[in-house]
Amino acid sequence: MKNIPLAKPAFDQREVEAVRRVLESGWVVQGPEVEAFEAAIARMHKARHCIAVTSGTAALHVCYLTLGIGPGDAVFVPSFAWPSAANMAVVVGARPVFVDVLPGTYNIDPADLRVQIERCLEHRWGKPRAVVPVHEFGLAADMVEVIRVADEYDLEVIEDAACALGATYEGKPVGTFGKLGIFSFHPRKAVTTGEGGAIVTNDDKLAEQCRTWRNHGQAIIDGKRDFAIAGMNYRMTEFQAAIGTVQLEKFPNILKKRRELASLYLEKLADCPGISLPAARPEHTWQTFMVVLDEDHDRGQVIDKMAADGVGAAPGSIAGHCMAVYRERFGYKSKDLPQSAKLHHQGLALPLHSFMSVSDLEECASLLSRLLAGDMNE
Ligand SMILES: Cc1ncc(COP(=O)(O)O)c(C=O)c1O
Repeated sequence: MKNIPLAKPAFDQREVEAVRRVLESGWVVQGPEVEAFEAAIARMHKARHCIAVTSGTAALHVCYLTLGIGPGDAVFVPSFAWPSAANMAVVVGARPVFVDVLPGTYNIDPADLRVQIERCLEHRWGKPRAVVPVHEFGLAADMVEVIRVADEYDLEVIEDAACALGATYEGKPVGTFGKLGIFSFHPRKAVTTGEGGAIVTNDDKLAEQCRTWRNHGQAIIDGKRDFAIAGMNYRMTEFQAAIGTVQLEKFPNILKKRRELASLYLEKLADCPGISLPAARPEHTWQTFMVVLDEDHDRGQVIDKMAADGVGAAPGSIAGHCMAVYRERFGYKSKDLPQSAKLHHQGLALPLHSFMSVSDLEECASLLSRLLAGDMNE
């Protein structure tokens, strides 16, 4: 039987050595390793600041608090995406408003953003305060259009680039279009620190506030360290940062490999019946390779069949508006945002990672093609 997992972090002896270095140093939380990791991320984005935190979700929480988003505010988020941006809006007391996505790119639909803002105003769901475009699976959202709508309605732009380290839009790194941008270093991402996240910004004041929220609310007041606000502990450990620095060194090769594998999937699946392929752009970083099955295919059955053959396929992501919490709290129905609902039910992520060989990929593509051509007895 094959053994091709969905994802596998690109670790080797170098990460082991990095962890050993931290253990031997005795300094284990937010020290020189975190500073070096932050400096590397900031350099990569030509950003003035990077603030490392414990996860992408923590990064979003800090962004909302730093911008003063809270009760009475509405935050616009694409439905089809991991729901951290919506969840953190709820956590700070704001109302998340879901926006549909575009087929193919799976990214926020700027035309629907306008529709949802108008609905929010009409129904008084809250003061439109921010939009959080997600660069889904490593492909940049249409930032020209998103920013056009945001400017029209005076919204803050917080980019959720959790999946999109290294992605660009018109040559500029994602994460640097809005006031604040966030990244995740979860093991499913191209660069991982176990758990981990970061915020990038060019705004000195916002950066200082992010650092304060992350560190129990501590800041320097009248020359003395004090607790300026009631904050969280979202500090990254030195272990995570040391691993992250090694991962960043490997990133050009990781990205090259992912792009090669994705191109090969597109080629091998070009004639596969019953699926739609993702939009392919040279700047895509392919955190996930997700196809969309036609409605007459049972995704669960396909996943089970692939698993039985040792291939780790999985649902691509989820549509927030289809989740119990948002159905019950705000009355969303699946049909309200049809593209997101379709991706939620029919999106299928295929294995993609650094340890995958060309023949592994060919086996995955051929198994899927055979299953969809009707051979469920594979
Ligand atoms: C689009 C998006 N936003 C936010 C997150 C949250 O990141 P983390 O898992 O680091 O909290 C993820 C993680 O999967 C994500 O895909």
